[in-house]
Amino acid sequence: MPLHVHASAEAVLHSLAEYFVAQAQHAVADRGRFSVALSGGNSPRKLYELLATTPYREQVAWDQVYFFFGDERNVPPTDPESNYRMAREALLDPLTIADSQVFPVDTALPPAEAAEAYTRTIQAFFAPEEAIFDLVLLGLGDNSHTASLFPHTPVLHETSVGAREVFVEEKKAFRITLTAPLLNQARAVAFLVYGADKAAAVHQVIQGTRNVDEFPAQLIAPAGELHWFLDMAAAAALPPAAS
Ligand code: 6PG
Repeated sequence: MPLHVHASAEAVLHSLAEYFVAQAQHAVADRGRFSVALSGGNSPRKLYELLATTPYREQVAWDQVYFFFGDERNVPPTDPESNYRMAREALLDPLTIADSQVFPVDTALPPAEAAEAYTRTIQAFFAPEEAIFDLVLLGLGDNSHTASLFPHTPVLHETSVGAREVFVEEKKAFRITLTAPLLNQARAVAFLVYGADKAAAVHQVIQGTRNVDEFPAQLIAPAGELHWFLDMAAAAALPPAAS
C-alpha cells in the first residue's frame, strides 16, 4: 500500500496527476479505454483543474476516457452540492469531454431507483465483463468515510457489486454510493487526502484497530493497487516509517 507523502497539497496534486496520467496511458494502450470513478467533495476539484491544464491535458487520450462517480449527492446536476457539477466545471467542460463518455447518477429518480439505475448503467458499460474500474479516486472524511460509505450505515455491509442509496443522518440527506465490493474490484484505487483535519482519520484507517463501522474507509482493499496521496499535515499522525 504505497503512501505518497508530500510537503504541500500542491505537490500531492501533481503527484496524483502524474499517477492518473500513467494509469490512463497504460489502460488505453492495454485495453483501448480508461474507466475512472471520480470522487467528490472539495479535495479533488484542484486535481481535476490540474488535469485539465498543461502538461497533463496533452498527455491523455481524453476521447478514450470514461467517467463515472464514486458517489453522488441526491441533488439536481445543477446544484452546487452536485459532484457531477463540480467535475463538469473543473474537468469535463474544460476538456470538452463528450456526454457519451460521462455517466452521471440520475438524481431525478428517487434514491433507491437512482441507485438501481446506476448499477445497470455500470453493468451495461462493462458487459459482458465484470465491472472493473481502471482507477477509483477516493477522498476521506474526517470521520473516516469514503465515497458515501458513512459510519454505522447499512451500506457498509452491502455484499452486492453495484450502487446503493444511503440515508446519511449527519447530512439529513440521501446519497448514492458505489458499494465496497464494486470499489474493491478496481485495478487501482487512489486516496487523495490533504490537510491537518484529516490526520486522525488517516491514522485510524491505515493504522488503527479494524472497525469498519467506525472507520468505513478500512473497507477499501482493492484487487489491484491501493495508493494514498497525502500531504505531510494529513500524514502527521502516522509513524515516520509509515509515511
Ligand atoms: C463526497 C465525497 C466524499 C469526500 C469526503 C472528503 O461526495 O463528499 O465523495 O467521500 O471524498 O467527504 O471530502 P472533502 O474533500 O470535501 O474533505
